[in-house]
Amino acid sequence: MKINGTPFRTIWPTTDNMAVEIIDQTKLPHVFTTLRLNTMRDAERAIRDMEVRGAPLIGVTAAYGVALAMRGNASDAALAEACSVLLAARPTAVNLRWGVEQMRSVLAPLAAGERAAAAWQEAARIADEDVAINAAIGKHGSAIIRAIHQKKDGTVNILTHCNAGWLATVDWGTALAPVYTAFDAGIPLHVWVDETRPRNQGASLTAWELGQHGVPHTVIVDNAGGHLMQHGMVDMAIVGCDRVTARGDACNKIGTYLKALAAHDNGVPLYVALPTPTIDWTLQDGVKEIPIEERAEEEVTHISGLCDDGQVRTVQVTPKSSRAANYGFDVTPARLVTGLITERGVVAANAEAMRVLMT
Ligand code: MRU
Repeated sequence: MKINGTPFRTIWPTTDNMAVEIIDQTKLPHVFTTLRLNTMRDAERAIRDMEVRGAPLIGVTAAYGVALAMRGNASDAALAEACSVLLAARPTAVNLRWGVEQMRSVLAPLAAGERAAAAWQEAARIADEDVAINAAIGKHGSAIIRAIHQKKDGTVNILTHCNAGWLATVDWGTALAPVYTAFDAGIPLHVWVDETRPRNQGASLTAWELGQHGVPHTVIVDNAGGHLMQHGMVDMAIVGCDRVTARGDACNKIGTYLKALAAHDNGVPLYVALPTPTIDWTLQDGVKEIPIEERAEEEVTHISGLCDDGQVRTVQVTPKSSRAANYGFDVTPARLVTGLITERGVVAANAEAMRVLMT
């Protein structure tokens, strides 16, 4: 996608092929800056500290992390260490495991001397594949938006939570790919953007990237969605996800479940957009089985923003003595999901339909 008219991906190899560069997402929307990752430890830190985030982008960054590790030392031990360090960076998004295991499966059978070049190539292939997958999600999802437009003959109002746009992937995004595709095709639409506390990925990232593309949008507080749905102001919701179980339970940013309950109560369709590597075929019951990341209290007790003097500052919003809990994700049971938008097509969130999709 474009930033001020210049095409960007969220991650790319440096011209000397010695490192990778990323957009530092902790600085958006007020500062656009890039960071150079020189080592596997840099990649691990970028994932853990959320300089890169979003399930597909985490997976690709981890793949490049393995490639960076292979530059210095491509022994079996170094490969095993890189995989285990990167796997521990964030627990919920299964794409991280997918990216790392994909790299391991390609590299492990090779001689040490062949691994560095092969690793670089495979990471680049995974990145390109992510872009192609998301473009296909855009195509399938935009057909749903078009159908709603044809039925209602007016602006389609779409609610989204967190950031599942191009910043969460290598390009295009998952939940926002259908939005961009429909918008580029001339379908009138407007996006309600949940701010998505505590880290405000909606207010900071989704609003920024929609604005860069010229998509009409309005930021709302996380608790507003139910009210808007009750008043007929939401035609559909599209969210991304970090892990979907084999029976269609979908884990996404904390608060998604509450939106799904409100959508269900108001007859608003809620779609989950995902690349099929986000499906964890080893799990069934998402509530019981998906590990939910718990992050630092400071993300809840403090908030950052642009001050009138042009400086970005962090302030505390809670009493100094209050403790905070910071669960990063929740699980929306399959029964609340209208459909899964994947690169292979749109499918019901149930075991049989999902199995058929993959055959
Ligand atoms: O904690 P984050 O910002 O990595 O969480 C991101 C999300 O929850 C996204 O909705 C999800 O990863 C899908 S991204 C295409």
